Amino acid sequence: MKKTKRPVWTVPEGMEPTEMDCRILEMQEKGKIVPWRGLIKTPEQIKGIRKAGQLNTAVLDYVEEHIREGMSTLEIDRMVYDFTTRHGGIPAPLHYEGFPNSCCTSINDVVCHGIPSEDDVLEEGDIVNVDCTTILDGYYADASRMFVMGHTDPRWQRLVDVAWECLKVGQDVCSRPYVFVGDMGNAIARHAHKNRCTIVRDLCGHGVGLEFHEQPDVEHYGHKGTGMLLVPGMTFTIEPMVNMGHWDVCGDELDPTGWIVLTSDGLPSAQWEHTFVMTENGVEILSH
Ligand code: MF3
Ligand code: CO
Ligand code: CO
Repeated sequence: MKKTKRPVWTVPEGMEPTEMDCRILEMQEKGKIVPWRGLIKTPEQIKGIRKAGQLNTAVLDYVEEHIREGMSTLEIDRMVYDFTTRHGGIPAPLHYEGFPNSCCTSINDVVCHGIPSEDDVLEEGDIVNVDCTTILDGYYADASRMFVMGHTDPRWQRLVDVAWECLKVGQDVCSRPYVFVGDMGNAIARHAHKNRCTIVRDLCGHGVGLEFHEQPDVEHYGHKGTGMLLVPGMTFTIEPMVNMGHWDVCGDELDPTGWIVLTSDGLPSAQWEHTFVMTENGVEILSH
């Protein structure tokens, strides 16, 4: 099996190690997973990702303003395409690894990567995730929100709220730098389990900014002290997928693209996603 080796963190010759160098070197010596320099964005890159995040947030605000019962998910897709391109952006999902549309629309038991369709019309009681990723001037930002159509089953509403809380628990763990992805995942999964929900294990958050999906993998479960160390300048998503029943997922037999992810037991799933930048004072939201 091919193993890709992570570069070793070193201080350039003749340079005084910064505080960040010291923290990273200390963890590297303990055998922890530390980032490489390419994952740490420059101030200029962060500026660009922040701008992409502002447009990405505006796209979701626009969806939030217009989404309603009786609307098809293809209409949502058109809103996302039109709004994004009118403001000089590109919807990143369009033609990404064969994905056919400008956003993902995931209703009820669709965990993620739902494909907008004329045939999927939003009905009272549906819970739907709209996931948008925006490219602006070459920079990427990625966020998603849940929308509840009218009134839904209180247990479904609670699922939507628990998924939100899980994201906020993850954000709270990142209220200071030099925490591990596993610290966050551990806290997120605990919160889900406390509320008798489960965390999807097959999909995770990710680094984002210069590309759609970068390192590190941001798993929403796991053990403290595992996963990558999060240091100032890193940009990444947190996007826990929370299931009402079992965490197991499967594909949709009727989906020729292979993108759509469903819960195996047919029970509903909910997800919220933000893009963050880690700073000296913890994470800042770049897109929601
Ligand atoms: N936006 C999703 C994420 O949060 C990825 C969607 S890939 C697509 O990572 F091609 F389906 F858009
Ligand atoms: Co994402
Ligand atoms: Co997303």
